[in-house]
Amino acid sequence: MTTSSDKTVTAVAHTNIALIKYWGKQNPELIIPYTGSLSLTLDQFYTQTSVTFNANLDKDQITIDGQPVTGKSGQRVHNFLSIVRQESGIDLNAQVKSTNHVPTAAGLASSASAFAALAAAASKAAGMNLSLTDLSRLARRGSGSACRSIFGGFVEWRKGSDDTNSYAIPVETTHLNDIRIVALTIEKHQKPISSREGMALSVTTSPYYPTWVKVVEADLENIKAAIQDDDFTRFGTISELNAMRMHALTLSADPDFLYFNGDTLTAMNEVKRLRHSGIECYYTIDAGPNIKVICQQANVQTITDTFSNLFGPTKVTVAKPGPGVKYL
Ligand code: ADP
Ligand code: DP6
Ligand code: CO
Repeated sequence: MTTSSDKTVTAVAHTNIALIKYWGKQNPELIIPYTGSLSLTLDQFYTQTSVTFNANLDKDQITIDGQPVTGKSGQRVHNFLSIVRQESGIDLNAQVKSTNHVPTAAGLASSASAFAALAAAASKAAGMNLSLTDLSRLARRGSGSACRSIFGGFVEWRKGSDDTNSYAIPVETTHLNDIRIVALTIEKHQKPISSREGMALSVTTSPYYPTWVKVVEADLENIKAAIQDDDFTRFGTISELNAMRMHALTLSADPDFLYFNGDTLTAMNEVKRLRHSGIECYYTIDAGPNIKVICQQANVQTITDTFSNLFGPTKVTVAKPGPGVKYL
C-alpha cells in the first residue's frame, strides 16, 4: 500500500459530441452500454483537472470552477477516486481542482471531458501508467461518454460485454476533415434530468427501447461506411436521424420527458430551412436543449451569420475536430 504521494498531475480533455448516441446501460455499475456509439472530439470545449493525493487530507476535497463540490456531484467524483485507489493500491485522500471550459450539465458533454481529464490526472497522480485503452476503460467508470474523450477526432466506443472489453478506439481516417460543429449554446443552465437518470428511465419504461438497440447497430455500421466513403451527406443524414431516434425514447418514457425547449425547435427548423435552400447542414442534440449544427467549412460563415441573427453571436461557437487527452 502506498502511503505517500504529493505529486500534482494536471490533465486536459476535450468534450465530444456523439453522432451515434449512447443511451442506456446494460450494466449500470460498470457502465457497460447496450449499444456502441460514435463521436467527434471538439477543440472548443474542455476540462482541466489537477489531482494531488495527500496524506494530510482527512477526506477528498473537490472544487469545480473554484466552488467546493458536495452532494451528488461530489459523491460521483469521490466514487471515481475510490476506483483509482482500489486499482492503484494508494490509500490517500485527494485534492481535485477542476475547471470546465464548457457549461456544466447543460447537454454539452461536461461529464465526458470531466471524467476523461480526471481519469488521466488521478491515475497518474496515483502512480499508475495506463495505456490509452486502459485510460478509456477507467474514464468509462466515471461517465460513459468520457471513454471517448481520451481520443481525438472521430472515436468509436465498442460496447463490449464487461469491464475489460468496453472501451473507445480512434477511427483512423483522413476523411471529412473539413467537418465543423456550430454549437448553439441556447441554455447554459443545468438540465433538470441528468443523462444518467434520463437514459435509465428510457431503458426501463420506453416500449421502443429494444428497437433502439437494433437500430443503433445499423446506424453505427452505416456512419462508419459514410466516413470511409468521405460521404458528408450520408454522414449528416444518419447523425440527424439517430439523434431524433434517441429523443423519441424520452418522449415514449413513463413519465415522458423532453430535453428540447422552444429555441431548440426554432433552431431545428432553421437547419432544415438552410438545408432546403442549398446550405448543407444537419443537427444533433444531446441530453439538453442545445443544438450542434453539423456542416463543412465552406458553409460555416452563412450558418454562423444565420444563428447569430437569431440567438445573438455569443451563443454561437464554431468547433473543429479536437485532440485527445493531454498532460500539462
Ligand atoms: P453533460 O451534458 O454536461 O455531460 P451530465 O448530466 O451527463 O451532463 O453530467 C453532468 C455532471 O457531470 C455534473 O452534474 C457533475 O456531476 C459532473 N461534472 C461535470 N463537470 C465536472 C467536473 N469538471 N468535475 C467533476 N464532475 C463534473
Ligand atoms: C446524450 O455519458 O453523460 O450525450 O454514463 O451516465 O455519465 P453517464 O451518461 P453520459 O451520457 C451521454 C448521453 C448523450 C449521448 C452520448 O454522448 O453518446
Ligand atoms: Co454527460
